[in-house]
Amino acid sequence: MNIRLGDCSKGNASCIECMILFKPVLLGYPFILLAIYIIPFLIFYTMYRIFVKCTYLCGVILKINSYMSNRTFTMIKPDAVRAGNIGNILQMINAGGFRIVAMKYTRLTLDQAGKFYEVHKERTFYGELTEFMSSGPIVAAILEKDNAVADFRTLIGATNPAQAAEGTIRKKYAASIGENAVHGSDSDDNAKIEADFFFNGLERF
Ligand code: CMP
Repeated sequence: MNIRLGDCSKGNASCIECMILFKPVLLGYPFILLAIYIIPFLIFYTMYRIFVKCTYLCGVILKINSYMSNRTFTMIKPDAVRAGNIGNILQMINAGGFRIVAMKYTRLTLDQAGKFYEVHKERTFYGELTEFMSSGPIVAAILEKDNAVADFRTLIGATNPAQAAEGTIRKKYAASIGENAVHGSDSDDNAKIEADFFFNGLERF
């Protein structure tokens, strides 16, 4: 029996090459063709496309994660601006290793302050807070550093300056829990929401 490869192309039933390649093609066995060539190709191609899509999505997710955990949002509040402490506070932010991605000297309307602090709407101090935050100019900024949210909250100290650690921004420059010199985002999600409240893509560097 002839079972050698490569020396026969006439559709010899005892030749492996004829059985696999030439016979189905020449004699037109559509189902054999489908089973041997087209279905494996389609399976392979589909798996390849799924692999490419997964790789792309993983890349996007990693990028978003690294953006979020590396950035925080801050405001130098009206009390610190009125007291002339913008420069001192920015110097502490720089010395703390934060890079300024975006910065704006602006003033919130009562309505805008209400929207920014909407999460505190049910709190007793909401009215006092929004009036204070719209009472004068502020400096809004996006800051970048590894572990930005947590490290910035350490740098500014406790919300109530009476409980803030020595050397923190609030210990040095804040007078009370209501007028506490600076704001710092409390989570990666809020950092993104708050940064988007003040800055568009063209204002970030
Ligand atoms: P901030 O980090 O900007 O976030 C919410 C703000 O609400 C907080 O700083 C304080 O300025 C303010 N705040 C929190 N608790 C009180 C309170 N008990 N009385 C007045 N203001 C408060």
